[in-house]
Amino acid sequence: MSQRTYVSDLPQAIGQTVHVAGWVRFRRSAGTKLHFLEIRDGTGVVQTVVRRGSVPDEMLDAASKVPLESSVLVTGTIKEDARQAGGVELQADTFEVVAACPEDFPIGKKEHGTGFLFDHRHLWLRSAKPAATLRLRAHIVRACRDHLDGLGFVNVDAPIFQSAAAEGTATLFPVEYFDQKVYLSQTGQLHMEAAAQALGKVYCFGPTFRAEKSKTRRHLTEFWMLEPEMSFAHLDDSMALMESLIGHVIDHVLEHCQDDLKILERDTSALERARPPFPRISYDDAVERLKGTDAEIAWGDDFGAPQESTLSAAYTGPILVHRFPAKIKAFYMRPDPERPELALGCDLIAPEGYGEIIGGGERASDLAYLEHKIAEEGLPPEAYTWYLDLRRYGGAPTAGFGMGLERVVAWLGGLDHVRAAAAFPRTMSRTWP
Ligand code: 4AD
Ligand code: MG
Repeated sequence: MSQRTYVSDLPQAIGQTVHVAGWVRFRRSAGTKLHFLEIRDGTGVVQTVVRRGSVPDEMLDAASKVPLESSVLVTGTIKEDARQAGGVELQADTFEVVAACPEDFPIGKKEHGTGFLFDHRHLWLRSAKPAATLRLRAHIVRACRDHLDGLGFVNVDAPIFQSAAAEGTATLFPVEYFDQKVYLSQTGQLHMEAAAQALGKVYCFGPTFRAEKSKTRRHLTEFWMLEPEMSFAHLDDSMALMESLIGHVIDHVLEHCQDDLKILERDTSALERARPPFPRISYDDAVERLKGTDAEIAWGDDFGAPQESTLSAAYTGPILVHRFPAKIKAFYMRPDPERPELALGCDLIAPEGYGEIIGGGERASDLAYLEHKIAEEGLPPEAYTWYLDLRRYGGAPTAGFGMGLERVVAWLGGLDHVRAAAAFPRTMSRTWP
């Protein structure tokens, strides 16, 4: 189609003749002379009227029986109609079926189970909510990049094939790599630390992998992570960036994604109330606050979903929990100089029970300390020599974090599971389609 008009642009085309290309999502006839089609094209849905006398008879006939999900081309005139979505209606002059869909399209009006829908994800994506989620996700990606690019960060892509664990050996995916064993990336952080010594402030944004044996609504085996890393930076710098990034993403989504948030039935007032500043709570304080609740833990225990939900229940927005026991955090975290049993790390916990969406902090810069930690955790020292070079050769302290994209999409979109935030989610039990 040479001058195709997208549905989202139709309100600006009142009175004009346009070419619309899309898929039929609903059909209704008023007798044999008048057929109403809802046509979606990914940017919106337009009510299309095919009327005898306005289109050739064979096109009227085709429109009268076009199966749902067929792809079609319509040429017609845009009329103002306040009752319709977008405030316009398309009155057809021509109607053409590009590819007819058989009547057995698997996804219909009746309720389907979640397993069935994810097995047919390649077709389910055409439905309103999955499509709205993917547009929301794309906006969130754009907002993240805009924020960091605007602050002068350089986007550097981390490798997917990696030679060592950064987030524990329990969740590594080994890959046969010629005659070697390597792993799918759990994080781009270690490579961003190298890049930050070259470029000042950097970020990577790409797929990361965890062989998570947990079947929770927060865990995928493949997810996307945004990972900024800043040189000459400390824990506070990393917390400030978490806060400004999430603030920017919320603002962007509220400004640009209202239609999709409505399709997702998201309560946007909850997002309005989730704007910065975000309260900062130390792990010590958190353990105190959890005393006497169902989520009470002993000092030294890690948080799980119950701790995160109980703590954040008192707030309408995210909270920043910092200075966790070093024992429960990754080897690369800098110990607090005043209390070495603590790590200078921070998690950002989303409200409404969505839990940790960001983890990060300041990196250890002391070579001997890192060598000790690598040995203590039983990691193979030869896999980290390049990483330790960063400390040997004039390394400035760096700080940063990783933001899990699907968790952010799930929270902002009000989704009940992170798998709904990915086009083709990968979990312990799913690598199809
Ligand atoms: O807290 P994590 O494990 O931190 C890191 O990987 C650091 N190396 C990041 C850094 O400092 N550059 O993971 C960061 C975030 C989590 O807060 C969560 O949002 C997401 O990544 N995440 C997952 N999302 C979905 N499924 C999983 N299995 C996830 N594991 C982590
Ligand atoms: Mg974490």
